[in-house]
Amino acid sequence: MSRFRRLTLGADFGYVPGEQPPDDGEWLKLNTNESPLPPSPHVARAVAEAAAGLRRYPDPFGEPLRSALARYHGVDAAQVLVVNGADQAIDCCFRAFCEPGDVVVYPTPSYSLFPVLARVFGVDPVELPLDDDFAMPAALGTAPGGLRFLVNPNAPTGVWLPPDAVEELVGGAPGVVVVDEAYCDFAPASCIPLLQRHDSWLVLRTFSKAHALAGLRVGYAVGSPELIADLAAVKDSYPIDRCAVAGALAALEDEEHHRAIVDTVCSERERVAVRLRAAGWDVPPSHANFVFARPHDGDAESRLQQLRQSKILVRHFASPRDRLRITIGSPVENDRLLDALHA
Ligand SMILES: Cc1ncc(COP(=O)(O)O)c(C=O)c1O
Repeated sequence: MSRFRRLTLGADFGYVPGEQPPDDGEWLKLNTNESPLPPSPHVARAVAEAAAGLRRYPDPFGEPLRSALARYHGVDAAQVLVVNGADQAIDCCFRAFCEPGDVVVYPTPSYSLFPVLARVFGVDPVELPLDDDFAMPAALGTAPGGLRFLVNPNAPTGVWLPPDAVEELVGGAPGVVVVDEAYCDFAPASCIPLLQRHDSWLVLRTFSKAHALAGLRVGYAVGSPELIADLAAVKDSYPIDRCAVAGALAALEDEEHHRAIVDTVCSERERVAVRLRAAGWDVPPSHANFVFARPHDGDAESRLQQLRQSKILVRHFASPRDRLRITIGSPVENDRLLDALHA
C-alpha cells in the first residue's frame, strides 16, 4: 500500500475474486459459478464482425442490445440500463443513491461485493444475518436505509424466494430496493413483472451465468424510467463495448442454446445434490447454478484441500457453519467432483 491510499480503506482492502488457475485444461473450476457449457456458437461470429468497427466508440447506452432486452422483458427501453457486468450496476446504485454516511442494508451471507463497495463509498452497512434455515431476515424489509439489496436466488446459499414472498418481505421497505437476479435463469420466476407496482425497485441481471458470457462482461438493470435515469447519470461514458453489445445480442437471440445451458445446470444440480445427500452431506435446495454443501462430519475445510489436490477448485465459507459452495459443472465434470469426494 502506498502512503497515498485513503486511510479508511486500509492495506488488506479489496474484493477477492475466486482463483483463476492457468487455462491448461487440468484444473476443474467450480469456484466462480461460470457456465458448464460454452456460449452460443453465434456469439463468436457476432463479436468478430463487431471488431471490424472498433475505430468508433460504441453506443453509450449499448443499443441495439438495450432495446432487444426491453422487448425480451416486455418493458420500455427507458427502463433498461446496460453496463459492464451486474457488478457495475451495483456500483452505479451506490454512486446514484448514497451520500457518504448513508446506510445500505443487505443480508449476510450474501454477495461479498456489497461490503467492499460500502467501504469505497463511505456508506454504513447494516448486515442482517440470515435465519438458521438460510431464510431472509424479516428486518430486511423494515430496517431504515436509503438503499437495500436482496440477491434472489441468494449467493452463496442458492435459496430462492418466489416473487410474491419478495413483495411481502420488501414491498413496503424505505428507499431503493435492488433485487440482484444474477442467478434467476436457474429459478422458476423473476421479479421483473413486479416492477409495474414498485417504482422504487431495480432488478439486476447478467449474461455471465446462463448465457455463458462471464468473459464478455455484460449486465443490466431494469426499473422505472426515473431510477434508470438516476443510474445513467452516474454511469461511465461508454460502459459496454461494441464486441460485448454484439455478443450479448447474439446470445439473447439464441434462446434454444440458453435453454440448453439452463436445463443442463438444473438437471445436474439435482443429480449432484442427490449424490451428496446420499453420502451424508447437508445440501439445502438450490435454485442457482451452485450448491452450498456441508459434509457429514462438518469438516468442509479438509474437503477443500482434498479437492485442490485433485486440481478441483470450489469456494469455502467458514461461516455460516463451514460449507463449500460448489458450482454445477458439466456431467463429466460433476462425475470427476463426485469421484474425488467419494460420493
Ligand atoms: C450475486 C451476484 N451478483 C452479481 C454478480 C456479478 O455479475 P457480473 O459478472 O455480471 O458482473 C455475481 C457474480 O458472481 C453475483 O454472484
